[in-house]
Amino acid sequence: MCGIVAYLGEKQAYPILIKGLHRLEYRGYDSSGVAIINGSMNLYKCKGKVNKLENFVKGKNISGSIGIAHTRWATHGQPNDINAHPHTSQNGKLSIIHNGIIENYGPLKEELEKRGHIFLSETDTEVLIHLIEDIQENEKLDIAESVRVALNQVIGAYAIVVISKEEDNKLIAAKKGSPLVIGIGDGEFYIASDATPIVEYTRKVVYLEDEEMAILEKGKDIVLKSISNISHTPYFQQLTMNLDALEKGGYEHFMLKEIFEQPSSVRETMRGRINIHDGIVKLGGITDYKQKLVKAKRILMIACGTSWHAGLVGEYLFEELTRIPVEVEYASEFRYRNPVITEDDVVIAISQSGETADTLAAIKMAKKKGATILGICNVVGSSIPRETDAGSYTHAGPEIGVASTKAFTSQVTILTMMALMIAREKGSITTSRYQQLVLALEQIPKQIEETLKTNDIVEAIAARYKDSRNFLYLGRGYNFPVALEGALKLKEISYIHAEGYPAAEMKHGPIALIDKDMPVVIIAPRKGNYEKVVSNIQEVKARSGKIIAVVSKGDTQVREMADHVIEIPCVEEMLVPLVATIPLQLLSYHIALMRGCNVDQPRNLAKSVTVE
Ligand code: M6R
Repeated sequence: MCGIVAYLGEKQAYPILIKGLHRLEYRGYDSSGVAIINGSMNLYKCKGKVNKLENFVKGKNISGSIGIAHTRWATHGQPNDINAHPHTSQNGKLSIIHNGIIENYGPLKEELEKRGHIFLSETDTEVLIHLIEDIQENEKLDIAESVRVALNQVIGAYAIVVISKEEDNKLIAAKKGSPLVIGIGDGEFYIASDATPIVEYTRKVVYLEDEEMAILEKGKDIVLKSISNISHTPYFQQLTMNLDALEKGGYEHFMLKEIFEQPSSVRETMRGRINIHDGIVKLGGITDYKQKLVKAKRILMIACGTSWHAGLVGEYLFEELTRIPVEVEYASEFRYRNPVITEDDVVIAISQSGETADTLAAIKMAKKKGATILGICNVVGSSIPRETDAGSYTHAGPEIGVASTKAFTSQVTILTMMALMIAREKGSITTSRYQQLVLALEQIPKQIEETLKTNDIVEAIAARYKDSRNFLYLGRGYNFPVALEGALKLKEISYIHAEGYPAAEMKHGPIALIDKDMPVVIIAPRKGNYEKVVSNIQEVKARSGKIIAVVSKGDTQVREMADHVIEIPCVEEMLVPLVATIPLQLLSYHIALMRGCNVDQPRNLAKSVTVE
């Protein structure tokens, strides 16, 4: 949700800012802008993607070594030139970029209007920069102090960077709820929403905490303080991110690259955590909480979107292996429904970005009520890992395509390892079955590799159905969440309406939709409720629906009935989601591409949803 980049140093700011915006474009891409101080405040912004901004600034004055830049995902006000960031104060001397929502911007705006402020945009951000200016002029404060005082009047979430024409050697940054990382170079500072725009210049970073601000002044050390004016000591960290992971590496899209990376991303998720010789799974990050998990009366999984689907797979896994009751909750519902939570509950928050606002809020609420909170996140150093008691990183590497792919398989891998670890500790699994499953899990990367070979078959199926208006995805047991995930992938990147259902639920309503034009994707491996799924296929065929079946290698029964089959390797029932998801990701990718959609940056979406 909005990307922020800022630079202060000896270099020209513009190339660093633009490159940074491209890296952050996955966070929002409806408008973008840049402000650079070079004697005057030169500000350029426009509706559309970063490329459009680059064309717009051609021939304009973009020199200067201090600047801020922003790519937006609209919350307050239409995506247009005026609402794009940066925003300036009334006197034009201050500029701000902001990620988040100022909830009390209405009353603040009214008050400022009474004092003569005139607003150009519909945004909450413009109100904040006017407030800072108002405080500065009335209380005769420097820019850092004006920002600090203003933030004490603000309700809501923010990551901001402010620059002032009159103090053009300073960047002032602050955050609450939305992420911000500061890169410390040699006599220079970088600021960004995540580390991707920073990593090629410096690996030394500081992650800002909530209600913390940074005063970055040329030639001086970083100064950190709380917005209540208490001095903080910076905690420097080293980035370990690999730069290549931020490029497309020869693939046409990040999404395709990330789909094909899954053999290695799942391997990375397991690296150092499975000892194949003695068949032991060890998740170092949660070792101290093993007993808490074993004794948990209930496990709650909270997440949104694809991560919620991973949580659903987790429910099946945990209940089967550990016999601990599990509930899977949408974080956005959970946080507002006054749920019953006790100290015997363990909450597992799942999030690729580690920044999802609803998941973060749900964590804070459950924490207050005394539950133990564990996290499963991909982005190292993000907010959720810092808010939880302990957790396990998925180590899938940066996921840039807005549609989540490799993050899902890595989340399911971690959940499988967690469930196995607890089951062993609890004694709810026999040693031989435990070892059998550990060995089977270890084989999964190879089986994903094999599954990826279906790409051509899937592409041909995509060509046949690319113009369909609706899709139905069906699965049972472990494959019900896979059906949901397949449907979500298709709708978010191809804009085709798709529904995921437990296969047996079809006859309670969705069967009415089926006719000769309705493609039905059925996950039908030769495991679990196979015969029942076969009956569901017959029900679809009897109504002339078109069957695209994901089947186990060598299957003949479904092949006879289905219009198309995609074969996946035969794996343990509980591991099927790790392979069955792959062709569904590919199907969405190819259909979206054939329909001319922007696969990596689908309309209206952003990669990390840091607002409610
Ligand atoms: O970063 P998170 O895993 O917390 O994000 C949750 C959802 O916003 C995310 O999975 C979303 O549904 C993706 N666009 C799905 O592809």
